[in-house]
Amino acid sequence: MTPPVLLAPSILSADFGNLLGQIREAEEGGADWLHVDIMDGHFVPNLTLGPPVLDCLKGKVRMPMDVHLMVERPSDYIQDFARAGASYLTVHVEADPHLHRTLQAIHEGGMKAGVAINPSTHLSSVELVLDDIDLLLVMTVNPGFGGQRFIKSMLEKIKKASGMIGGRNILLEVDGGVGPETARACAEAGARVLVAGNAVFRGAGTIAENIRAIRERLPI
Ligand code: DX5
Ligand code: ZN
Repeated sequence: MTPPVLLAPSILSADFGNLLGQIREAEEGGADWLHVDIMDGHFVPNLTLGPPVLDCLKGKVRMPMDVHLMVERPSDYIQDFARAGASYLTVHVEADPHLHRTLQAIHEGGMKAGVAINPSTHLSSVELVLDDIDLLLVMTVNPGFGGQRFIKSMLEKIKKASGMIGGRNILLEVDGGVGPETARACAEAGARVLVAGNAVFRGAGTIAENIRAIRERLPI
């Protein structure tokens, strides 16, 4: 049996003036995870939010919080995100020369560990940590901003990543430019978790309608 594809709305595109209300709408609309993009203005040229915001959401959100760290020195923040209630903590392979140690520390903090790779980074860069991760995040845009166009050549990379994961218990996640037009191709290439920011929070319909529009295109 093919496992279901999970949908993880990214709050980067939400209305921060009504953050909890929009998250609840996504939850009631059938979202599976809440994707939280953390940017430091160094690893990527943008600033977003930090652990205090997650801390405020803790206990009010039923969905697992899927935290995507786009920061330099990600290991400095592991305990903060553990305390703030993150379920998954994903770090960029490009941001950490001591990736193996960081992944162990994430597990010691009681969270699931993920590794993200930029479009120009080869899959071989994560090959040696496959037994240390629960999630592999293949970026389908260059990280830093919501609302960018999906990079089509990443579909081949998703397929290769799926093959590389093989029978391991690792969720393959894709992030960037995912919406009704691209979701199905991602799922068919092997993605198990789809992150969507603009397509969910700034789509044509209500949040629930936008989620449905993506789900309707999925093979399962
Ligand atoms: C990009 C972020 C994404 C972003 C996705 O750097 O990692 O999670 O919010 O937004 P969309 O779906 O609008 O491309
Ligand atoms: Zn993200």
